[in-house]
Amino acid sequence: MLGKHEKVLVLIGSAGRDPLVWDEPERFDIRRKITQQVGYGAGVHGCVAQMMARLEGEVFFRALATQVDRLEVTGPSTLRLHPGLRGLVSLPLALTGK
Ligand code: HEM
Repeated sequence: MLGKHEKVLVLIGSAGRDPLVWDEPERFDIRRKITQQVGYGAGVHGCVAQMMARLEGEVFFRALATQVDRLEVTGPSTLRLHPGLRGLVSLPLALTGK
């Protein structure tokens, strides 16, 4: 049990890869039903701008789907090394317009 003023570091980067929660967590599955993701945190300190961030994502992917016919990975991706958050430094892509 934590005492008063003791700090907790939550490593949410690993939460999305928990095999007890997700089937084949290492596999990218765009049709996966996302019910328990913690990418925006939770509770009173959950991300205050998550509605805006979600809207930006929706607008971006809708525009991408409308304008791009084909999207191919053309080289190896580079992971951003951070103990708490997963992300990419680079992901070489080739986009073919409609
Ligand atoms: C994809 C985009 C974003 C992601 C994945 C994200 C994720 C997060 C996460 C994980 C937290 C910590 C929640 C916790 O401690 O439980 C957080 C907090 C926060 N985020 Fe975001 N965020 C995003 C975009 C933004 C943007 C665009 C803004 C501001 C314009 C923002 C403002 C904040 C603030 C102010 C907090 C602190 C809330 C608090 O401690 O009460 N975030 N965010």
